[in-house]
Formats: sequence, structure tokens, C-alpha cells
Amino acid sequence: MSTLATVPALQPARLEETLRRFAALSEPGPGVSRLAYTRLERQAHDLFASLLADLGIAAYTDAAGNTIGELAPDAEPRPGAIGTGSHLDSVPQGGAYDGTVGVVAALAVAAAASAGPRPRHRPWRFVAFAAEEGARFGQACNGSRIVAGLTGAADLRQLTDRTGTTMAAAMTECGLAPERVETARWDPRDWRAFVELHVEQGTVLEHRRVPVGVVDTVSGSTRLRVCLTGVASHTGGTPMDNRRDALAAAAECVLDCERLAVAATDVNTRITVGALTVEPGAITIIPGRVVFTVDVRETDYGRQRAAAHAVGQRCRTVAARRGVDVEVEELADTPPVSLSREVAAVAHAAATALGLPAEVLASGASHDTQQISRLMPAGIVFVPSRGGLSHSPGEFSTADQVAAGAAVLLETMYRLDATA
Ligand code: GLV
Ligand code: MN
Ligand code: MN
Repeated sequence: MSTLATVPALQPARLEETLRRFAALSEPGPGVSRLAYTRLERQAHDLFASLLADLGIAAYTDAAGNTIGELAPDAEPRPGAIGTGSHLDSVPQGGAYDGTVGVVAALAVAAAASAGPRPRHRPWRFVAFAAEEGARFGQACNGSRIVAGLTGAADLRQLTDRTGTTMAAAMTECGLAPERVETARWDPRDWRAFVELHVEQGTVLEHRRVPVGVVDTVSGSTRLRVCLTGVASHTGGTPMDNRRDALAAAAECVLDCERLAVAATDVNTRITVGALTVEPGAITIIPGRVVFTVDVRETDYGRQRAAAHAVGQRCRTVAARRGVDVEVEELADTPPVSLSREVAAVAHAAATALGLPAEVLASGASHDTQQISRLMPAGIVFVPSRGGLSHSPGEFSTADQVAAGAAVLLETMYRLDATA
């Protein structure tokens, strides 16, 4: 690698240490649990702000919980900021890398740029987005959707977690201001470009032995909640031909979801039932009610909607055959996006200039930059994920891989800074 390898802020050990500091902010148990709009997520944002403050960069947290710091230009200022960052919340029992790698790399970029001799002509903004994971409230990318004007106060009062707490109530509990989130919107005229570093969460880079991925497309996601209501009754007393078992019906629906995705012509069609609750949930009671979630991911919006529709149809067919009532509710719908070719070309050239081979690929996971791309040219750079594991305590990228990604991010920022 080039001279960037000698930049102190980009040293693997230093990045690893910062990742460890964030990972320590977790509920007890396996992996990292730092859910959206919780005390721990807020502590992670406070740590981000204090690490920026150590660099002399003041940061603020907006009404939606996004934390943003800005480094002013130091030469022939031009309007239009360039930004980088990612998210600090996690799924339950997730890993230490999803989102946090992009925030830690943003901090490294901030440190390198503020100490470095290379001129910066534009404001550089460092962002930790709030509530990216849809794991708690169903809807992903809440903080970035708010800044992009894609959601607002009314939606925050509708979304609930599994305990019935609304997103608005969780935000208020954390000291945020859900009724004022419109004030957090970004003005695209104030921006030039955005680039996010993230772990791949797949195996393309590992299989091809390539250290850097440049994302062209981010999959969309349609999320459903299916509620099956049968009749709870005695497991010993009720004959097998006189049952309306909600869980047996759900089991068929789950397998139908898998069959739909496996039969799809495109490898980017992914359908998953990730959460399921059984009521009353006792060994001696036929399940009377089952609620499960379905996550439909696609890189083509037409196919995404068709697949979500097919899931609903299959569930209705199974329920009708088994005499079970069914309700299918759409929790969230985010279309796929094509990211900026300009930013992708700049990131690719930056990697090449550093002697790092880069591969263009699609992202199966959602990202804040998917939302930000509605406002300005935006791109995502990936580093490899060991075994493709993510949303799991087994999530891992080596410190050298993260450092290579951070170096590409820094070089990309300088090159975007220099664009007209
Ligand atoms: C975000 O991690 C997602 O669920 O894609
Ligand atoms: Mn993520
Ligand atoms: Mn995630």
C-alpha cells in the first residue's frame, strides 16, 4: 500500500482499539446488542461526539438522534460538503462491525484530514446515523430517512417495537425530539457527495480475494407482519382432524416463503422469516395465534413488490385450507437504489491508486447511503466479512481489512473534495 499506510490515524491497531470501545457499549450476552433508540445507542453517539471533540471538531445531535461533526475547509473554500459515516445501533446479538466500521473509519478520516498537510476545499462532515437497523421497529434507516425527508413525525408515532413502545416514545425517552424531526432535514444544495464504508455482509470479496468492494446497487426491502389466528385448545383432548393450529399453518407459510425465493430467477431475491411468536406458547396447548415477520429483499423493485404480493397470497391460501384467519400487514417498503456512478468511479480509482484491487458488487443489505443517495451523489465502499457472517456475534473483518477500507475512504474523500 502507498504512503497512507503510514498515516497514524489509519493504523490497524488504532482502528481496532476504537472498534473495541464501541463494542463495549452493549447489553450483556453474546455479541453486541445496542438497539435503536436505547440508552446504549445514545452512549455510542456520545462517544462518537467526544472522539470528534478530541480532534477539535464540534458535533451536534439532531432531533432524530443523528450526530454530525464538521471540519471546515482550509484552502480556497468551495460550497457543498462531502460527508462520510454510518450507524451505531445493532441488531440483538449482532456483531461489532456492522455500521460501527463506517463510523470508526469516519473518525480516522477526521483525524487524518485534520492533521494532514493535504488541502481541503469543502466542508467535511462526519455522521453517525440513528436507528439504521429495522430489527427493533421494522423500518430500517430511520435517521437517514429523516434527513432525506422520506419519513416524518407521523410515521414515528405508528411504528412500534415488540413491547408496543412507539418509535416516537422511545426517542422521547432518549431525550430526542420526535415531534421536531422535520428540523433535521438536510438541504441538498449544502452538499456535494457522501460515501460510506461498511462491511460487505456477504462472501463476494472473500471468495474473490479482493480487499475492496464498490457498491453499484443496494437491495430494497419489503417487510410484512403476518398474523395467523386459529383455535387454542387441549393437545390431548383435540383430535387431529379437528384442529385449527396456527403454528402448523405458519410452518407451511415459512416454507412457502423459502420456496418462493429459491424458485426465483434472480439470485438477489431473498425472503426470510426472522421472528415468530407463538401464543399461548405452552407444551399442552395447540397454538391459537402466531405472528411472524417476512423480509423480502430484491435488487429490482418490480420483482420485490411481486415477491411480497406472492408471500401474502401463499399465506392466504394456506390459512384458507387450514381454517385459520390471516392478516398480512406491510410494515415497511424501501425500494432498491442505484448509487452514483461518479462516486463509485472515484472510489474505484482511489483504491487502485492505493494498490488495492476493487470489485463492483451489489449490496443485499440496506444502508443509510441508500437514503442519502436521494439527496446527492452517494456511494458505498465495502471491506470483506469473514465467512460472509453478519447480524451475528461471529461478524468479523481483520484490522488490516478495516484499515485498507479506511485508507480508500480517506483517498475517496480527498478526490471528491477536488471535484468541481
Ligand atoms: C441492515 O443491516 C439491514 O437489515 O439490511
Ligand atoms: Mn449496517
Ligand atoms: Mn445491520
